[in-house]
Amino acid sequence: MDRLGARQLTGVMSEHPILVTGATGKSGRRVVSRLRAKGLPVRAAARNGEHIFDWTDSGTWDAALEGVRSMYIVQLDGTKLVRPFIERAVQHGVQRIVLASGRGIDNPDYAKDSSGVFEGIVDSEAAVRESGLEWTISRPGWFAQNFSEGFFADAILAGELRLPAGDGAASFVDAEDIAAVVVAALTEDRHAGQIYELSGPRAVTLTEVVATISEATGREIRYVPLSVEGYVAELVQQGLPPADAEAFADVIEPLREGRDEYVSDGVQRALGRPPRTFAEFAKSTAETGGWPG
Ligand SMILES: NC(=O)c1ccc[n+]([C@@H]2O[C@H](COP(=O)([O-])OP(=O)(O)OC[C@H]3O[C@@H](n4cnc5c(N)ncnc54)[C@H](OP(=O)(O)O)[C@@H]3O)[C@@H](O)[C@H]2O)c1
Repeated sequence: MDRLGARQLTGVMSEHPILVTGATGKSGRRVVSRLRAKGLPVRAAARNGEHIFDWTDSGTWDAALEGVRSMYIVQLDGTKLVRPFIERAVQHGVQRIVLASGRGIDNPDYAKDSSGVFEGIVDSEAAVRESGLEWTISRPGWFAQNFSEGFFADAILAGELRLPAGDGAASFVDAEDIAAVVVAALTEDRHAGQIYELSGPRAVTLTEVVATISEATGREIRYVPLSVEGYVAELVQQGLPPADAEAFADVIEPLREGRDEYVSDGVQRALGRPPRTFAEFAKSTAETGGWPG
């Protein structure tokens, strides 16, 4: 697209609602706030909240897409609904897509895909690339917010993080950085065709994670490494079906194996600044009352 065309597109976009799916989730919620802070009109879509949208009910799709020119897609994991959704979006005149994907998606050895999450996201990435629209793909690694509002928040509240992760480390990324990249891609013209792999500035072990959270919250939190069998048995004892317990263990495997230790340059490339550290995330979450308990 030439420069004038791109400027005109950005102008058009500022008059139309920007659709954010997953708008109540870890990344979408922050994308909504940041767009609104810029004074931009936003359609915040999820099953609950401002604009009711359900991936599994295609009858809700047209109302979500009406008048939209740009959108952030957080898909329903384990499905291939993004492809038909983009086809519908094209009919509505959508011009720009930013897709939430994940690091490791292009590596078949990254993780066992027992619940079809990777298969679905791979299909979504292909659908976005083949759409003929302007696209940007956000591929974050493990979110730091998994500890404050995601999978691990209950364990942090209980003061004991029990996982089969050994002394594996990951370069956890702050969802505030993810949201900042997504907003840049939605509102600026220079991100088209970019795949941004997003991480924090260095890998952190779970021992370091709990020490950092303990320091930020003033509460003692321990990390207890478990065997895979011990972890699955604990989840089953808590009432989870064995297949789901095994699937959770599969999710932890890349962490244990250090497959997410590497650092990516997406935040720096997209925003021209380094990503936030885990300690900065922990401290700012404490300052805004974001830790559970
Ligand atoms: N967490 C990580 O460490 C990590 C790392 C890399 C990639 N990812 C990927 O990032 C994506 C998740 O993003 P996130 O963490 O920002 O989201 P999230 O916090 O898991 O929130 C999910 C959002 O989707 C909405 N939702 C759930 N079911 C829905 C349905 N049937 N129809 C419409 N909306 C629905 C939820 O709202 P309602 O419940 O109100 O509908 C919520 O807003 C996933 O694709 C995940 O695989 C995550």
